[in-house]
Amino acid sequence: MDILWLSEDEVKSLLTMEETIEAVEEAFKEHGLGKAQMPPKSYLYYRKHNGDLRTMPAYLEDLDATGVKVVNVHPANPGQGLPTVMAVMILNSPKTGAPLAMMGATHLTSMRTGAAGAVAAKYLARKNSRVAGIVGAGAQARTQLLGLAKLFSIEKVLVADLSLDRCKALEKDCRSFLDVEYDISTDVKDACDSDILVTTTPSRKPLVKDEWISEGTHINAIGADAKGKEELEPGLLHRSKVVVDDMAQASHSGEVNVPLTNGLLAPEGIYAQIGEIVAGKVAGRVSDEEITIFDSTGLAIQDVATATKVHQKAVEKGIGTKLSFL
Ligand SMILES: NC(=O)c1ccc[n+]([C@@H]2O[C@H](COP(=O)([O-])OP(=O)(O)OC[C@H]3O[C@@H](n4cnc5c(N)ncnc54)[C@H](O)[C@@H]3O)[C@@H](O)[C@H]2O)c1
Repeated sequence: MDILWLSEDEVKSLLTMEETIEAVEEAFKEHGLGKAQMPPKSYLYYRKHNGDLRTMPAYLEDLDATGVKVVNVHPANPGQGLPTVMAVMILNSPKTGAPLAMMGATHLTSMRTGAAGAVAAKYLARKNSRVAGIVGAGAQARTQLLGLAKLFSIEKVLVADLSLDRCKALEKDCRSFLDVEYDISTDVKDACDSDILVTTTPSRKPLVKDEWISEGTHINAIGADAKGKEELEPGLLHRSKVVVDDMAQASHSGEVNVPLTNGLLAPEGIYAQIGEIVAGKVAGRVSDEEITIFDSTGLAIQDVATATKVHQKAVEKGIGTKLSFL
């Protein structure tokens, strides 16, 4: 018996953002319909190394797909020439439990995170959104923009990062698929005058002030994905429709985790899970005025659905290396 090994480069060559959006939307829908098993991520914290390691298992019933991802977050890695986030994914057969494929899942993680932002914006942002704001010009920012560019006619991008060089690098990179006007800045406020704002930093204190956000804005809050992380002032959550990806996971590690813990947000202040909206159980945006926030922690079902698509395509195209298993 063999396992199919797919390298990062092979996964990159197989995966398109359109397909990733499709896979993630389907995964959210199954989640909303109660057809997904997904225990919350388990974390190991390496405090002396400023990093953590997570395992993320899931099963999607309709897709009949299952697997587990192992992924780290080490914010100081870029200083050593390594990505902040690196991942490996194992797909198993739900029928026998046998491992089917193993793949580099670093690019897949960024793609499925970008796709989650795009799907959330599809249901929560104003349809005529034209200006995208990005706070944090790192690895996730690129795929966030790629996902949004597939579903919206973005005409202008506002980028803010502590490092102007990172803003410039993001602009250079993103021009390959979105050649529009870019305004770059080291001031977070400058990115906030946008229709869709993406926050994707590892911040542990609010960066986006309530007063900077106008009515009608949609925010994809991507960066907070572990206990203690937050990017938005809690006051902003109060005047917004807050949608999480998964209630349990968001409560302990999402944008809402800190305000929930210190009593600045009540659990009733959370409107819904994105899957409930995708499945049509709950309305998404209902007016041009409301502010909507998608609190993304990153779900194992996104990985399983996306990796399954990669595996199917690899088998069809005869890509990958067979490793002897049993
Ligand atoms: N929700 C999800 O599914 C998901 C998935 C992957 C990563 N993440 C999280 O997203 C965050 C970003 O990940 P990444 O891979 O893009 O990291 P990265 O290190 O590549 O990029 C982060 C960027 O944020 C900038 N930054 C940090 N603090 C800032 C501040 N105060 N103001 C402005 N800019 C600031 C950094 O300069 C850097 O350019 C991390 O917290 C990561 O854990 C979430």
